[in-house]
Amino acid sequence: MNNILVTGGAGFIGSHVIRVLLKNNPGKRVINYDKLTYAGNLENLKDVQDNENYFFVKGDICDERNVFETLNKFDIDAIVHLAAESHVDRSIEDPLVFVKTNLIGTTNLLAQAKKHWDGDFNNKRFYHVSTDEVYGSLDLDDSLFSETTPYDPRSPYSASKAGSDHLVSSFYHTYGLPIVMSNCSNNYGPNQFPEKLIPLFINNIYNKKPLPVYGKGENVRDWLYVEDHALAISKILFEGQVGQTYNIGGHNEWSNIDLIKILCDKMDAYLGREIGESQNLITFVKDRAGHDLRYAIDASKIQTNLGWVPSLQFEEGIEKTIDWYMTNREWLENVTSGEYQSYYEKMYEKK
Ligand code: NAD
Ligand code: DAU
Repeated sequence: MNNILVTGGAGFIGSHVIRVLLKNNPGKRVINYDKLTYAGNLENLKDVQDNENYFFVKGDICDERNVFETLNKFDIDAIVHLAAESHVDRSIEDPLVFVKTNLIGTTNLLAQAKKHWDGDFNNKRFYHVSTDEVYGSLDLDDSLFSETTPYDPRSPYSASKAGSDHLVSSFYHTYGLPIVMSNCSNNYGPNQFPEKLIPLFINNIYNKKPLPVYGKGENVRDWLYVEDHALAISKILFEGQVGQTYNIGGHNEWSNIDLIKILCDKMDAYLGREIGESQNLITFVKDRAGHDLRYAIDASKIQTNLGWVPSLQFEEGIEKTIDWYMTNREWLENVTSGEYQSYYEKMYEKK
């Protein structure tokens, strides 16, 4: 596998995946195929944009011709598919775009890969990056999600991801397309769009704005530092067994309210404020519709079969994350002002 297409590479996780692939595989070409929706930000890849093995193609995964031409042009033999609509709250407001990108886009990508490889699946890989939300919601005293937990998605986002998982699996069983998949828990770290809990709250704490906690803040999530997810993806791409699914998680469950209090206190310490000051910003608001109570991953399969474990403890991860957002305030300002959307034009169209 020498020419790797990463879809959604300008997003949060995709940008870390691209960096890991370029760093750990000198000589391999990495092609970033991204539509640059509101979530796509080429500033995330500033540090690699001049790497001779990195290429960017602006395109929609739903576009049959553009996808096929890109696969041919770069002689793609591996696809790491991350492009998606990814935010649950947006899926509740506007489900249709989730169906278009996550279901139709994924099916198009599968169909174009099949056409491009034309029956020669030797040393080819189609890797679908998915979410633990497909398994539904756990009670507080339930055990963990494993690879054999039945699918039970509850939001339009998780239903669209569950459907895309099934379509990927169907291309393996029907046509023998060499697929692998992973389902991961909540990621946090640098470059995450500040609509998601951790970067939104870091930004609000810094600006002394209210912190909107949904419901009572009792919902539990299993948090994983994004670079650990990117390393797991790279491992699965090269060492994972065709046809298999791997669950990825941080063994790191927190109720939202406990996590938010830690974030407040760590931000106070970082900013030299009195510890406890930012907790006054916590504001309980109307709950998210259909809010899943708990996600938690049993990651023993990837640990046993591929030797992957998260490298970072949560305390270190959250401190690194705070430090990144505070030392990259320009990134945060460009995203919140919308300035980031002109980066492609400035860097690519005028070249
Ligand atoms: P993100 O929203 O930050 O980035 C998504 C990227 O996909 C953006 O660059 C966007 O421009 C691109 N994109 C969207 N629609 C497209 C289309 N039609 N054609 C081409 N590109 C398009 O998402 P993320 O948080 O980095 O998540 C990446 C993947 O990982 C998603 O598939 C998501 O379901 C999955 N995932 C995310 C998490 C998490 O905690 N963020 C956890 C598990 C799995
Ligand atoms: O589990 C993996 C999933 O994690 C990914 O598949 C999704 O792409 C990703 O967005 C994430 O989904 P969540 O809905 O869990 O993440 P979010 O950051 O939106 O919310 C985390 C928790 O915090 C959730 O219980 C809702 C709550 N929340 C969120 C926001 C944005 C609040 O209480 N207030 C908020 O303002």
